[in-house]
Amino acid sequence: MTELNLTPSRTGSRILGFGSYQPERRVTNDELAQEMDTNDEWIRSRVGVIERRLSEPGQTLVDLAVEAGKNAVTDSGLTPSEIDTVIVATCTMETNIPNAAAQTAHRIGIQAAAAFDLNAACAGFSYGLGTASDFVRVGSAKNVLVIGVDKFTNWVDYTDRSTAIIFGDGAGAAVVGPSDTPQIGPAAWGSAGDLAEMIYVKDRNSFIFQEGQSVFRWATTKIAPIALEAVKRAGVDIADIDVLVPHQANLRIIEAIGKGLRKHGARTDLKVATDIQYSGNTSAASIPMAIDHMRAAGEIKSGELALLVGFGAGLSYGAQVVVCP
Ligand SMILES: CC(C)(COP(=O)(O)OP(=O)(O)OC[C@H]1O[C@@H](n2cnc3c(N)ncnc32)[C@H](O)[C@@H]1OP(=O)(O)O)[C@@H](O)C(=O)NCCC(=O)NCCS
Repeated sequence: MTELNLTPSRTGSRILGFGSYQPERRVTNDELAQEMDTNDEWIRSRVGVIERRLSEPGQTLVDLAVEAGKNAVTDSGLTPSEIDTVIVATCTMETNIPNAAAQTAHRIGIQAAAAFDLNAACAGFSYGLGTASDFVRVGSAKNVLVIGVDKFTNWVDYTDRSTAIIFGDGAGAAVVGPSDTPQIGPAAWGSAGDLAEMIYVKDRNSFIFQEGQSVFRWATTKIAPIALEAVKRAGVDIADIDVLVPHQANLRIIEAIGKGLRKHGARTDLKVATDIQYSGNTSAASIPMAIDHMRAAGEIKSGELALLVGFGAGLSYGAQVVVCP
């Protein structure tokens, strides 16, 4: 039988840099309360959001992706010409044709990149990062730009108080490249398609619907064990983890995941991302954006171990341990 060539594989992969971007327009809870029957106290105590950023009219999802992508490339120290693959994780494009990744690559100045979109909703960045890491390790790519971006203003009914208060727009990105020592652990990822009806958009003329309480129960019971599985697969101990960066869905869900991990030995000084307070739930953007904000604030140091865990519509979930650049 004919044997075909394989690309030479590599020992490991690592994150070379992070970047993020948020629209300028800040929308407070009080502003939403002028449009619908809600109030600041309810939103802060039930969801944890103080304000979110919403896109300006005419600002597209690709506009957000481009800015975050540029920032991550700059942070990585590479030039756009050194990137050969662009993955955009998103579930909220204005239209699906063409994809976001090819346009984003072109506008950043990345020539002829392999470019594709990936939809795992709010778990999208975890899937994108796992895919990028594996591409680099098997030699399918050298340097991959992974962007998590969502623009829920495309899909939220701003008269529906059960969803409008939660979501924000934004983009977060990372550049993944080769490493002599593995710096991105294996992904613990999976799905529960039997629960698909918990979060959905019925058709292209509809808005997002979610069974809030069911999603809340699922996230507060199922996600900590998935995060622990990622720790096991990475071959480290939960007590080695310095930073927990869960998808920023709801502050009470984030706290429940932190509590679940502490029961299994996570340190009391474990730093936990709470970016939701000033960003809202930005879906696939929330994990890289939270890390980027924490690095900018000096809350994460180079070499620290971060545990990332994404979850959302599908239902889909994915987690991995990474060494912070
Ligand atoms: C949506 C969510 C915030 C609702 O919070 P909750 O504590 O479950 O609230 P409930 O749906 O039980 O509603 C409680 C009451 O608040 C009311 N309420 C709902 N939204 C409200 C709002 N924005 N402002 C004020 N009151 C509100 C309800 O009508 C209900 O009133 P009632 O008791 O008189 O019937 C919460 O369930 C949640 O965050 N779920 C997870 C969703 C999520 O993370 N989705 C993304 C996954 S990636």
